[in-house]
Amino acid sequence: MIRSIDVIFSPDLLSSICLEGKTVVVIDILRATTTITFAIANGATYIKPVLTPERAFAIRQKQPNMLIGGERYGKLVDGFNLGNSPSEYRRSVVSGRSVVITTTNGTRTMRACMSAKQVFIGSFLNLGALIRVLDQANNHIIFVCSGREGQFCTEDALFAGSCVNALCQGQNDVCLTDAAKTSQLLFQTHHQQVFESIQNSDHGRYLTSIGLESDLEFCSRVDLVDVVPVMINGRISLCDVF
Ligand code: MLT
Repeated sequence: MIRSIDVIFSPDLLSSICLEGKTVVVIDILRATTTITFAIANGATYIKPVLTPERAFAIRQKQPNMLIGGERYGKLVDGFNLGNSPSEYRRSVVSGRSVVITTTNGTRTMRACMSAKQVFIGSFLNLGALIRVLDQANNHIIFVCSGREGQFCTEDALFAGSCVNALCQGQNDVCLTDAAKTSQLLFQTHHQQVFESIQNSDHGRYLTSIGLESDLEFCSRVDLVDVVPVMINGRISLCDVF
């Protein structure tokens, strides 16, 4: 059967797309999906993405053992346990813990994809593992980029392109939308400069300006972990299909 692959460059474009029955990969390279991937790899029980800091505080009030993390304007929210730097979510901090996370674009995208058949979380950190899972997934795959305040962002499209490229290797029966083809082209042109591309992106430059340049290097690492987080009923945990 022919496999079709699409890339959506911003969650604002989702209103006209039917996700039912489809496999979705949510992408927010800087930094929500990188952070969540690292947290799950380090033994977090589950991650609950929510839209607002108020909602995160309300959940922790009912479940005081939960950690709350995320960012606004890239920075730690007052009263949160953790920010949105992936390296904060190390094993000694998150193992055996559940975490509520709210971020500007990434968690909004995750929640907007809840009607899909399957929702996976993708980042350069788990590229190889993700491709293995997608190889067994159904025939309609949509990569949804979180973008930046509704706009296209380079780092998410670059990662989507790396996945499209990997999924097309040795396959003749793959149907790509223009957005998927363009993402693949972006990756083919820049695959040797992933870090530089991330560094030169709008959000990469913003994070550097607030002292978080080390996160860019972290978020560019390929195959650091061998896990795929999956979102089921609004909770993200370890996918055990492989
Ligand atoms: C987001 O969701 O917009 C981000 O992950 C922003 C960031 O923390 O850099």
